[in-house]
Amino acid sequence: MPLKDLIRSAVGRKLFMAITGFILFGFVVAHLLGNLSIYLGANGINAYAEHLHQLEPLLWVFRIGLLVAFGLHVFFGSILTLENWKARPIVYKRKKHQRSTLAGRTMIYTGLLLTLFIVFHLLHFTFRLIGPETEILAGGLPNVFLMVLESFRQVGFALAYLVAMTILFFHLSHGFASLFQTTGLNNDVALPWLERLSRAIAVALAAGFVSIPVLIFFGLVIK
Ligand code: HEM
Repeated sequence: MPLKDLIRSAVGRKLFMAITGFILFGFVVAHLLGNLSIYLGANGINAYAEHLHQLEPLLWVFRIGLLVAFGLHVFFGSILTLENWKARPIVYKRKKHQRSTLAGRTMIYTGLLLTLFIVFHLLHFTFRLIGPETEILAGGLPNVFLMVLESFRQVGFALAYLVAMTILFFHLSHGFASLFQTTGLNNDVALPWLERLSRAIAVALAAGFVSIPVLIFFGLVIK
């Protein structure tokens, strides 16, 4: 099927959502693994940040790819939602949500909130325009360990990330379920198991991320 027709068809759009969602998921897993190096102390996470920046030209290719995947995911996600809303113009007195979950029905909202979180997160840790002042190390890179530690010792930042990771959990738990459906792995026997698997993956990822602000806030990660 030509690309133009694929984009125009509902199945094609779902396919784009699945592929771009999978790329974003890959980033989230890699980012979590990198972030967990905070538990190895300043040397762990700062060395990790340094290695990443040494990959500089390649890092930009990767960042641009990620941005394109993100843009397409938001674009097709918004179109799919608008189409769904248009297809159901009648407001029923008693809403029946057959086989639909709260996470599924709120994908557009959790997606938009996650977009806001990413803007906030980039301003916080990448551009360092908000949050405590950061020490700059000899090589010109920030002291990522102290930057994260000092931020999450403040209740406001710890809470903001806790809320954002809860939203991430909801978004991912449905994201996987629909990824499996798009790939056709959704017969009556497999579906309940795939839904459980989706939730388990989302719980594991969200728990990994949440552990960082929570353990830091309660003083369990020290300099
Ligand atoms: C506790 C949770 C998190 C922590 C501690 C954390 C930490 C960081 C840090 C320190 C950086 C800056 C890296 C650098 O410039 O050297 C960063 C960048 C970034 N984070 Fe996170 N992050 C968290 C959660 C997330 C989540 C859930 C997402 C996405 C949904 C995310 C998306 C990003 C993106 C897109 C960047 C920019 C990457 C780049 O510049 O190449 N982060 N994060």
